[in-house]
Amino acid sequence: MAQLWGGRFTKQTDELVYRFNASISFDQRFLKQDIEGSMAHVRMLAKQEILTEDEQNQILAGLQGILEDVESGVLAITEEYEDIHSFVEANLTARIGEPGKKLHTGRSRNDQVALDMRLYTRDEVKETDALLKELLKVLLRIMEEHTETIMPGFTHLQKAQPITLAHHMGAYFEMFKRDRSRLHDILERMNYCPLGAGALAGTTYPLDRDYTAELLGFYGPMLNSMDAVSDRDYLIEYLSALSTVMMHLSRFCEEIILWNSNEYQFVEIDDGYSTGSSIMPQKKNPDIAELVRGKTGRVYGALMSLLTTMKGIPLAYNKDMQEDKELVFDAIDTTKGCIALFTGMLDTLSFREERMRKSAQNGFTNATDAADYLVNHDVPFRDAHGIVGRLVLRCIEEGKSLDELSLAEYREESPVFEEDIYEAIAMETCVNRRLTVGAPGRAAMEDVIKKYRKYLEGECENE
Ligand code: ARG
Repeated sequence: MAQLWGGRFTKQTDELVYRFNASISFDQRFLKQDIEGSMAHVRMLAKQEILTEDEQNQILAGLQGILEDVESGVLAITEEYEDIHSFVEANLTARIGEPGKKLHTGRSRNDQVALDMRLYTRDEVKETDALLKELLKVLLRIMEEHTETIMPGFTHLQKAQPITLAHHMGAYFEMFKRDRSRLHDILERMNYCPLGAGALAGTTYPLDRDYTAELLGFYGPMLNSMDAVSDRDYLIEYLSALSTVMMHLSRFCEEIILWNSNEYQFVEIDDGYSTGSSIMPQKKNPDIAELVRGKTGRVYGALMSLLTTMKGIPLAYNKDMQEDKELVFDAIDTTKGCIALFTGMLDTLSFREERMRKSAQNGFTNATDAADYLVNHDVPFRDAHGIVGRLVLRCIEEGKSLDELSLAEYREESPVFEEDIYEAIAMETCVNRRLTVGAPGRAAMEDVIKKYRKYLEGECENE
């Protein structure tokens, strides 16, 4: 047991208590951040003449050595240390002697862990964003290739109106674009530095908190030392953003699973992203999509868990907050893994254009356009709705689609119909006449695609 405390204790911690309390098994994940934070702290202490130049240099070299040795496998992080902070400090002192014992001057593990977690999370938010950007690139590629690929759009999972594959993909482009913008908001709000808050009430040493904040790439120091050691809002925001990403991925997976089913056959998932059955030789299952959908619950769980952990904690630091780590780490790993796998699956997905088109054609998705035709010939919309409804009923009875009815049959319902009805209800016409902003018509889609290209190329991530 290597603990940083013990002076006031008369007996050893019980083994079970020690293990229950220890966090080294999971907080070793932020060794790099712990060392980076300590280096900034030490530089500041030397600048403020709380440490000498020489002590600073020895400590910095010692910390650098620990990082390199752990990374190269020479030094192992073992469970004999209570947490990553104890591991670093004990090893530092073992390496450089007396100056090592000065590292923790003007600092508490409370502000230290708050800093480590913030640094770690800041990097992860950026990585999540980069993964989403890769996903958006794949979506844009599919959109560019499929502005003329017609498919049915659904409401209530019933065929509704014809759209294009580009349009459908564009809906997800918007969702993941908003997810990125949520991440950017979080970065803006969380980028303030807790270091220097001490245990809860700051310290009597003349620390320069602006300086450490600047060294560590923060906008500035957090302005209340009690809040600085107690705030986990940014993790809750991040878990909420991750939950939303997972919700979007899960909806998309659900659609891919449907589209890949024998009934739809709109897409074929690449063999590399499918799995077989141990008993049924014919099977090719969409397990990856199902797993992404399934893992969504786990990320929501982390959000609920942390919200619940935080709800009754009095100011300032309490050990409950150690519980933030495992669930946040798991949610981050899960979501990042899911985005990456999903991107690969989408990138290799093949689209069965003929099947999609036929499905749109056979589902009366042009019924609205048939009604609009009548409206354009001065029939009131409500009457037009009734006329086309009766035509659809006839088609259902005769097993036909609207474009298979003869002109005579059309005219039995309304004399207004002319030969040009066929042109008016052709799938291409239905789609390409929908030119309002955000609609599937090719010209409207191309405008949007141009904007998306700019967005992905541009510096400005949110436009
Ligand atoms: N392992 C602790 C955590 O994760 C570090 C802070 C410990 N602070 C304390 N006062 N015991 O929260």
